[in-house]
Amino acid sequence: MKPAKLSVETTGKVIICRAAIAWRSNAPLSIEEVEVDPPKAGEVRIKVISSGICGTDNHIIEGTLKTPLPAILGHEGAGVVESIGEGVSSVKPGDKVLLTAVPQCRKCDSCLHAKGNCCLKEDIFSPVGLMLDGTSRFTCRGRKVHNFFGTSTFTEYTVMHEISVVKINDAAPLENVCIIACAIPTGYGAAVNTAQVTPGSTCVVFGLGGVGSAVVLGCKAAGAARIIGIDINEGKFARAKALGVTDCLNPRNFKKPIQEVVVEMTGFGADFTFEAIGTIETMVSALESCNLSYGVCVIIGSSPTKSQLSFDPIKLQSGRILKGCLLGEYKTRDHIPLLVNDYMKKKIDVDSVISHKLPFIKIKEGFDLLQSGKCIRCVLLF
Ligand code: APR
Ligand code: ZN
Ligand code: ZN
Repeated sequence: MKPAKLSVETTGKVIICRAAIAWRSNAPLSIEEVEVDPPKAGEVRIKVISSGICGTDNHIIEGTLKTPLPAILGHEGAGVVESIGEGVSSVKPGDKVLLTAVPQCRKCDSCLHAKGNCCLKEDIFSPVGLMLDGTSRFTCRGRKVHNFFGTSTFTEYTVMHEISVVKINDAAPLENVCIIACAIPTGYGAAVNTAQVTPGSTCVVFGLGGVGSAVVLGCKAAGAARIIGIDINEGKFARAKALGVTDCLNPRNFKKPIQEVVVEMTGFGADFTFEAIGTIETMVSALESCNLSYGVCVIIGSSPTKSQLSFDPIKLQSGRILKGCLLGEYKTRDHIPLLVNDYMKKKIDVDSVISHKLPFIKIKEGFDLLQSGKCIRCVLLF
């Protein structure tokens, strides 16, 4: 199979290209030839240039998080608009765009609220894996294939709703900015928007992967004096320290629960704690690690489908605040382009979060790196 070529002649036609198909969970993705239909009204077809591999994609592959399969995963992409459907006005062919899982329809209750960013057109929390008209634009071996979170970036071409396509600076380097579609806003925004980390504060970040690293960048930018990073993989510590973590802890090196260690280290618990792993156990640890009276705990990680978080309510009665956020509370089409500009002005060190780059066809190697804990963020190049 040869990579698909971009040409004006593709407009209005089916594009045949390569994509990584998840036929079922607990099985490797397989690179296959797929047919990508032209965009319908309100839709955009995009040539994908780069895509990060996120922990959430891995949760699907490992089966802890559910989405209809077969599907084309990937939800952290950068690309160029190939063609647009009827009525699309915010992007045109040739525009550089980010492909994000969180839409901004600008019409729903969340979008119209000053702070809300969980657009009601999302397909994240109970994913159906289809376009809003209930159909799919992907076919493989004669079978319809689902999309993922309305995004699907592990393919040379994808079709998305205009409301999830973020037009960005023409000068943005597309090989790097893909992670500004998920990891960076998710983590950075959790610190600066959701927790509103204050100068001089103590923060604790559970999980030092791509998302946790972005939390560290946000805490540092907000002026945190101490940032404690927690991970069971000590291989993550060197890069975390370079990003701004002041103390690294491996819970497996302690006999007592890590929250007790944090409370002792900080005197009375941290000002702000963040969970960027996605297990119930670490969510409870993050909650109990923050100060009982004024601590703020932000849940970022995606927990297994249908799991329940339980803790003694007294943990909140003392005054703790437990919060969650989606993509760091950014309204995607309004705010993500500004983050890209901040990156280009060197205000956010996005590049340091990317530890590996691989050609798209080596996607299996990319997931191996994530699963074996050898990468922070691996970016696929198309
Ligand atoms: N205790 C501490 N650290 C842990 C534990 C644990 N019990 N389990 C896993 N980790 C660490 C891993 O070693 C890894 O460094 O958590 C980190 C998770 O990072 P990634 O796998 O790179 O995942 P990431 O893309 O950062 O996503 C983190 O945020 O958006 C969500 O769905 C995503 O739940 C996921 C979380
Ligand atoms: Zn993600
Ligand atoms: Zn909306």
